[in-house]
Parts: sequence; C-alpha cells; structure tokens
Amino acid sequence: MAPADTPPTVPGRWLGGPGAPGQHTRSAVAPDDPAFLDLAALEEQARGVLPPAVADYYAGGAETETTLAEATAAWRSWRLRPRVLRGVSAVHLATSLLGSQVRTPIGVAPWAYQAMAHPDGERACARGAAAAGALMTASTSASTPLADVAATEPLSPKWFQLYRLHSPTHTEDLARRAGQAGYRALVLTVDLPVLGRRLRDVANRFALPADLPLGNHPPQTAVAADSPVWTFDDISRFAALSGLPVVVKGVLRGDDAARCVQAGASAVWVSTHGGRQADPVVSSAAALPEIAEAVGDEVEVYADGGIRSGSDALTALALGATAVFVGRPAIWGLATGGADGVSRVLAGLSAQLAHTMALCGLSDVRSVPRDTVTSAR
Ligand SMILES: Cc1cc2nc3c(=O)[nH]c(=O)nc-3n(C[C@H](O)[C@H](O)[C@H](O)COP(=O)(O)O)c2cc1C
Repeated sequence: MAPADTPPTVPGRWLGGPGAPGQHTRSAVAPDDPAFLDLAALEEQARGVLPPAVADYYAGGAETETTLAEATAAWRSWRLRPRVLRGVSAVHLATSLLGSQVRTPIGVAPWAYQAMAHPDGERACARGAAAAGALMTASTSASTPLADVAATEPLSPKWFQLYRLHSPTHTEDLARRAGQAGYRALVLTVDLPVLGRRLRDVANRFALPADLPLGNHPPQTAVAADSPVWTFDDISRFAALSGLPVVVKGVLRGDDAARCVQAGASAVWVSTHGGRQADPVVSSAAALPEIAEAVGDEVEVYADGGIRSGSDALTALALGATAVFVGRPAIWGLATGGADGVSRVLAGLSAQLAHTMALCGLSDVRSVPRDTVTSAR
C-alpha cells in the first residue's frame, strides 16, 4: 500500500531518488526527478555560458518590455479548481496535433539562430524534442537548412515556421521545400509585418556574428519593404504551395482568429512573439479564452508566451489550447546542455503538468474542462 502522499503513476519519475517514498526533501528528489526543474537557475546558467549580447538578444522584448514582463504572471492570474475523488490513477499526456502523435502537449516554439546557443543548433534541438516526444517548430531564421532539420529524427513530427522574406519567390520556395522535406504543417508568423524595436539589442549594438550560418535565407534587413505584405488570402495560397495545413501564429484577437479559419487556417497559435513585437499588448493568457470561443471546435488552438511551469501549461489547456509551446526555456536548455538540455526542459515541464493534473483529478490532456480554472480576482 502506497503512503498517503504517494501520487498515482504519471509519466516521468517524479518521486525518484534513493529515499523512502514520500521523502520530498530537495536533496533526495532533485537529481533524477524530471519535475524538479528549476528554470530560473537554468536561465542564470545559460546567461553564464552565452556572450552577454546574445543572452540579451534571447531574453529581451520590445519597447517597454511590458508584454514580456506580464506573460508568466498572466497565466498565474488564473487559479486551478481541483476535482477530488475522481479515481485518477494515471495521467495521459499524449495527444495529436493536426493529426501528428506526440507524447506531450508541450512543444518547442520556433526561435531563430540556434547555432548562437549551441554549435549543433537546430539539430540538437530536434534531437532533444524527439527524446521528450515533443513537437518542434523550426524557424525560417534557422542556422540549419530546413531539410537538415527535417532529416534529424525524421520520425518525430516537426512544423516549419515561415516568415515573409524580402524575396517573394524565395518565401514561396521555402514553403514548397517545407512540404517536400516532411514537415507536417506550415506555421505562418503574422505578427512581424515589421521587426519590433528591441531596445536591448539597440543598446548593445547587437549584430549577428559574421560567421553565423543562415540555413534558409540571406541576411534580411528589418523591413521586407520590397515584398508584398501578407493578407488573409495568403493562408490558402501557402497551404496550396506547401501542400501542408497552415497554422497562423501571432493571433491575439477573436475576430482575427475567426477570419483565419474562414480563410483556410487549420489552426491558430495565440502568441505575443515572446513580447518581441508590438508592446504593450494583451497577454496570450488574456487573449486565449476569446480566441478559443471565436473558433469553437473548428480548429486547434495553441498558445505560447511565458509558459514556465506545468500549471501554466494546464491553465492554457483549460482555457482552450490543444498544446502549448516554449521558446526561451528551450533556449536555456540548448545553451546549457545541448539536446539533453532541451529534452530535460521538456520532460521536466511535462512531468510537472502530469503532476498538477493528478493533483487536480484530471487524467487526460485531451479533455481538460474549461472550469478547471477560474480568475484569481
Ligand atoms: C530569441 C527568440 C527568437 C525567436 N525567433 C522566432 C522566429 O524565428 N519565428 C517565430 O515565429 N517566432 C520566434 N520567436 C517567438 C517564439 O516562437 C515564441 O512565440 C516565444 O518565444 C514564446 O515565448 P517564451 O519565450 O516566453 O516561451 C522567437 C523568440 C525568441 C525569444
């Protein structure tokens, strides 16, 4: 018979360690407990291994950094409403994202220039995501060519994120090649009509290292002035070009989400771009309920921005997300530990999610009821 405080079986050994069951001391459980993930310490560690201007480029937001500062707090302005006596003996994190099976609903958001964080860049990130059973989204601005990222752990599902480049033909070519390379979806990032003003980069006079490989495109200046701007019509155009379902990333309004769906989007991704574009904007946590309501069950909805714990992820699932994505935590993992670091971050957050679900009487990430959370106010 398990001691009273021994939780049900969940993915990950989150009651590990050599001590007797129930010994929840830091030293007894920390070393091999995936849920014992200290992201604040990891961020500090990453700062220690990165050149200061690169660490600032990864960490920073735009303008006043209000959006950046509020992101995590906004998830935590909700409170969980645990269910008791529900007989939950196991928690299932596996789900399907646009038909691709994953072992966790916590994936890797697209982030640029991963070779600045680790020499193996996107390849290491892909290996880490695959080890955790998580979906990876590769950026247009990757250090590694899109076909090489796709060929790393090819059975592990990946999406390709598309930016509007200076050359429309180049942009279209990337969309076609993403379809051919085996990506499962095309993620159109629509919150970057022009680049946000990131004042840390200005202060640091930050420039990409001259020897940094650019896998998919030549250097771009801030504004793609000579390229036609995107409209809702581009959603179906890129779906046709790539042969892939299109996810629209960077949506913060219900009316926009509904128009994306009308225009042929297969999913909508609620995001502030990590606080790096317009600022101050409504947080993902505040926008998600309106967007989930606007699109109903028609398409999947994802969210990112400031997800730093399993309970943040659970809050997003309750508010209508099918999956959540992390940007900076994956950066910290890659910078400090390569593929293993990425997988530890994803496994840790996933174990925390499972743990919190067990505590809340929930057994399946595919059916987290909306009334699992209530506003803290
Ligand atoms: C350093 C950095 C680079 C990013 N590069 C991209 C990118 O190339 N394409 C994109 O769509 N989003 C990009 N993003 C935004 C992320 O996809 C994601 O929306 C954001 O990081 C999520 O917030 P979080 O970092 O708080 O988890 C980037 C974010 C960061 C921090």
